[in-house]
Amino acid sequence: MQESGIEVAVELDMSLGESPVWSVERQTLYWADINNGHVYAWRPQEGGAPTRIELDEKVGCVALADSELVAAAASGILRLSESGEPERLAANPEWKKERQAGQGNRFNDGRCDAAGRLWVGTIGSDEASPTAALYCLDRGEFTPRLTDIRISNGLAFSPDRRWLYHTDSPSRRILRYPFDVDSGTLGEGETWVDLETLGLPGVPDGAAVDSEGCYWSALYDGGRVVRFSPEGELMAEHEVPCPHPTMVAFGGADLRTLYITTATQHLDAEGKARWPLAGSLLQMRTGVTGLAEPSFGG
Ligand code: BGC
Ligand code: CA
Repeated sequence: MQESGIEVAVELDMSLGESPVWSVERQTLYWADINNGHVYAWRPQEGGAPTRIELDEKVGCVALADSELVAAAASGILRLSESGEPERLAANPEWKKERQAGQGNRFNDGRCDAAGRLWVGTIGSDEASPTAALYCLDRGEFTPRLTDIRISNGLAFSPDRRWLYHTDSPSRRILRYPFDVDSGTLGEGETWVDLETLGLPGVPDGAAVDSEGCYWSALYDGGRVVRFSPEGELMAEHEVPCPHPTMVAFGGADLRTLYITTATQHLDAEGKARWPLAGSLLQMRTGVTGLAEPSFGG
């Protein structure tokens, strides 16, 4: 395990910090606290506190957009602007039907591809039954692209746009699918990384790909961030000072700061006392540059 040099970027008490995304244009980091329905925006160079939008439902992830952001709230996709009411763009296909039974598969991890489509997955309401899916939102239409999922996570694309990475977290495997950015189609998936084989703890959660095509994965309940080569080899392990890192994003003026969101939702009082940095936004300098995140195209 490497000396990580991980420190606090913004001290917070989030339940489920998630979905950090850096806007190069605005030099702003955005992220969500899923369970509390909070969306944060922070300009690190200005040194101040983050601003926070409070939604009245859970919010699985955020992506960049011309307006400012789109948010995958539990019930559907919302367009957010710096001020003003959220605008509803599309309903969550798994929300209404499940809600009638008193349950809902809320949206979870997602991001935009280089053509501006939004890929966003759901999470089984009990986090165990395979009732979730990965969807693609293209020009207002949702299409399920992967089904029978428990917790959709780890979505990312290779820099050459030839691969889509995805994990159903409880499987402890990360798969990759041949990807065609022009048509948005996926080929046959293959297991690309298996935490079991590698003897790694926890489950693969959110991810970011760097400019060398390596995939950085936050191991939820594994207390570390790991980096895999394009061939799926384990290249580095960085210990995180809490058990539940959730996702990573490159940001900062040089795109060499790795921001790491964290959770407290599975910690009791003793755990919180032991891991005081859990629930904060963390950061670490890296020797490699990240990639600019694409925006939502409509
Ligand atoms: C989900 C959490 C879950 C975690 C680990 C996150 O993406 O939002 O609810 O506990 O992944 O699987
Ligand atoms: Ca996640």
